[in-house]
Amino acid sequence: MNYLELIQKTAVEAKDDLKNINSFSAAEDYRIKYLGRKGLISELFEKIALVPKEHKSQFGKELNSLKKELEHSYEELLSRFPKQKSAVFSEDLTLPGLKPNIGSKHIVTRTLDEIKDIFKSFGFITAEGPEVESDYYNFSALNFPEDHPARDMQDTFFVSQNLLLRTHTSPVQIRYMEKHSPPIRVIAPGRVFRNEAVSARSHCIFHQVEGLYVDRKVTFAELKGTLFNFAKLFYGKDVSIRFRPSFFPFTEPSAEMDVSCVLCKGKGCRVCKYSGWLEILGCGMVDPNVFKSVNYDPEEFTGYAFGIGIERIAMLKYGIDDIRILFDNDIRFLKQFIRI
Ligand code: PHE
Repeated sequence: MNYLELIQKTAVEAKDDLKNINSFSAAEDYRIKYLGRKGLISELFEKIALVPKEHKSQFGKELNSLKKELEHSYEELLSRFPKQKSAVFSEDLTLPGLKPNIGSKHIVTRTLDEIKDIFKSFGFITAEGPEVESDYYNFSALNFPEDHPARDMQDTFFVSQNLLLRTHTSPVQIRYMEKHSPPIRVIAPGRVFRNEAVSARSHCIFHQVEGLYVDRKVTFAELKGTLFNFAKLFYGKDVSIRFRPSFFPFTEPSAEMDVSCVLCKGKGCRVCKYSGWLEILGCGMVDPNVFKSVNYDPEEFTGYAFGIGIERIAMLKYGIDDIRILFDNDIRFLKQFIRI
């Protein structure tokens, strides 16, 4: 077969192929077969070196015009079968939907809300105070004498000589009593700060709920009754409580309250250090000196106060053994407590 016939043969084949094309992808195959880098036209161009001299120029002309012809028919094919938008096929409608992320309350907030609700049902209202306090409200008015070692119990972050980050929410008692007369039934939830090394058991920032009840003839028995009912509502009716003598400058007598271990039900475990009991709060009868600093007559009024550590209670309730995890804001930890 001479070289010109090769061109003829390719032209006939291309015409035949053209008749059967009815889609974009078939047009694409046509382009690759004839006009692609390794297509038949390229192949023929490579053969030009072998063509005898006297036919070379005719061979080149005819091959060029075939190439133009095929390019033209390919253009036409494209206008008849345009490229489909591939996005239509990239969506897999059978895939399961994406779950939206749902926000929820942090367990410290949730615990705080539960405690607030319980005391609200006992008739306590909520009061708030500043986080940056004066020495007077945080210490002096609460019967911490100047230079008294009791101030060491609460490692303090000082802002200046006289200003500090409150070490407890008890200063809210003083602020509230300055503005109101008995009877008073108030709780003060809020953030407190202590200059302590951060460890699994203690943090330099945590939350407290302080409670205060002042009226005529308030007794220690009422304090016990109120806290006992709180413990039952919070932990369930099977919980037991006990009081141990303690010391706080602003209460006399003072006590700490334990609940039977919520994890082992009093049998003894690692969390309760095999004692069967967990300490959850400090409390006591308001010291007469505190009443004097807010101009209440200690002969006329008595009262009780208590202070609950929220993180501690939340950790016990949710079985968390490292306080730091509550402040890391690791989404994997927080997600476990989403309640829908
Ligand atoms: N304010 C005390 C503390 O932070 C707790 C407390 C409050 C104790 C009220 C007794 C009465 O340790």
